[in-house]
Amino acid sequence: MCGIVGYVGPQQAAPILMDSLCRLEYRGYDSAGIAVRDGDGHTTVVKAKGRLKVLSEKIDGGRTLKGCIGIGHTRWATHGEPNEANAHPHISGSEPDDSAVVGVHNGIIENYAELKEKLVKAGYIFYSQTDTEVAVKLVDYYYKKYPTPSKAIAKAMMRIRGSYALAILFNDHQNQIWTARKDSPMIIGVTKGETFIASDVPAILKYTQDIYYVGNCEMACVEAGKVSFFNIDEEQLEKETVHITWDANAAERGGFEHFMIKEIHEQPKALQDTLNSLLNDGRLDITKSGITPEIARGISEISIVACGSAWHVGMAAKYVIEDIARIPVRVDVASEFRYHCPILQENALVIVISQSGETADSLAALREAKSRGIRTLAILNVLGSSIAREADHVLYTLAGPEIAVATTKAYSAQMLIGYVLAVELAFERGVIDEEKYKYYIAQLQTLPDKAEGLLEDKERIQWFASKFSTAHDAFFIGRGIDYAVALEGSLKMKEVSYVHSEAYAAGELKHGTISLIEDGTLLVGILTQNSLYEKTVSNMVECKTRGAYLMAVATAGHYDIEDTADFTIYVPNIDEHFAGSLTVIPLQLFGYYSSVSRGLDVDKPRNLAKSVTVE
Ligand code: M6R
Repeated sequence: MCGIVGYVGPQQAAPILMDSLCRLEYRGYDSAGIAVRDGDGHTTVVKAKGRLKVLSEKIDGGRTLKGCIGIGHTRWATHGEPNEANAHPHISGSEPDDSAVVGVHNGIIENYAELKEKLVKAGYIFYSQTDTEVAVKLVDYYYKKYPTPSKAIAKAMMRIRGSYALAILFNDHQNQIWTARKDSPMIIGVTKGETFIASDVPAILKYTQDIYYVGNCEMACVEAGKVSFFNIDEEQLEKETVHITWDANAAERGGFEHFMIKEIHEQPKALQDTLNSLLNDGRLDITKSGITPEIARGISEISIVACGSAWHVGMAAKYVIEDIARIPVRVDVASEFRYHCPILQENALVIVISQSGETADSLAALREAKSRGIRTLAILNVLGSSIAREADHVLYTLAGPEIAVATTKAYSAQMLIGYVLAVELAFERGVIDEEKYKYYIAQLQTLPDKAEGLLEDKERIQWFASKFSTAHDAFFIGRGIDYAVALEGSLKMKEVSYVHSEAYAAGELKHGTISLIEDGTLLVGILTQNSLYEKTVSNMVECKTRGAYLMAVATAGHYDIEDTADFTIYVPNIDEHFAGSLTVIPLQLFGYYSSVSRGLDVDKPRNLAKSVTVE
């Protein structure tokens, strides 16, 4: 959560910082600020509550601040309400001019109260409620004792518990920005004579595609056109850049009104690219992850761990893997898995699914599994992310940068990898024969075109969404894989349109929740599993009898559903295991258009941030 940027080079820093912050606003958007140092060595800090545009108006897009070195931050509040005082950057002094050390921070400092007490005793006066101000003053405290930036930061790192990515300006080191990180990402890009820092790739993609990753518990000293890395013992480290293949334009809206609708439209490509990356000569190939056929054969059970939509992918993957490959699969929310000490067999495979690869709970779950000697596989979208660097095996979704807070294309690409794993594991373990193997691959190859076809029906969904834009409640039901997709459809609805929404296994509804159904309540039934079709229809009828308005998302051919449902969307026929990738598209569109009809900020829903790097 929160976004960090930094620049040092020959150009004016502020407009570059503002431009980069725009690309990171999805990481936090309740306040923002920048600090720029001018040619006389004076550092000016400007902050504003609210969206980035409030800050931008204050400094005319950055044009009123002069100076070629600076740092910036867009905030998602953890400690202290979103207001100007709590916005970053924070300074070491208590008066605006008293800024020997100025810093921005992502993460949470767990022992901030104890550190603050120590600093207050040492004479520091605090002006905000943030843990970040504590970190900045702690660095200043050590800098006064050990006057080199690396020593001061290293000492602070040893005292701080929690997660952090820090970017710091020292007044005594006019041409440098220092960064340090633990469990919160930080990247650096160096081009001719210029250096950029950011917490996330899209912020600097426009300037460079060759990225350095600051490692866990490492520091970096950034100067114009160069960077040096150090470990916490202040020993210098050698690093290579990683080339990011994402196209810089992929992080732009490209003519679409919002990133979310752009990314919904990018799903056929995300599916195609991801599938292509896992096909070799017409056969599935996951060996580039290091999962060999021998490993595949030795897996006794699978445990999938993830958060939010990625957890929904896990829920769908459980049905698909168990049915096709006959391997027992359990699925846990990462924040639960990490603390409840799950029972795992020695030959288990723990799969962590994450778009960002930075989600704090997912990373902790991965570490928990590794600490018990269990093999781990991560399904990720962001190259070089923290989870990528720690997992034993990685499979990448090729969805490109996902900017909208509500995930769409990454979800679809993750689902595809779930299918590939199911089919590949089934084949390697002799559960399916060559004919069935080829059948599944052929079915998977039809997914991108079928997904494309569904996007053509969006006007009907737009019309329906505008009709229901004043709804208070919605329920999404389904059985089996349809239930897993109902979870995602419901999340899309609530997170971007703020309509209260619940997802239920269709058969579970009448064990309590049906009492919430009243005249006009919207109920969305998902019907792609033939053997469960009639049962879910019965559950929909039970709700209709009690006044519900029914929307159905059904497989083409089940036209009789129109006798029951008030509004129906059909999805093309495909092997039922893979139908979730098609049914989710109208549900994403429904969530999107509901939000647009309500006049909401689709790409930046209230209270949310794209990647949740704190607990
Ligand atoms: O980056 P991750 O995939 O680990 O993020 C997990 C969730 O925070 C994420 O899927 C979230 O639920 C989505 N933004 C919802 O659309």
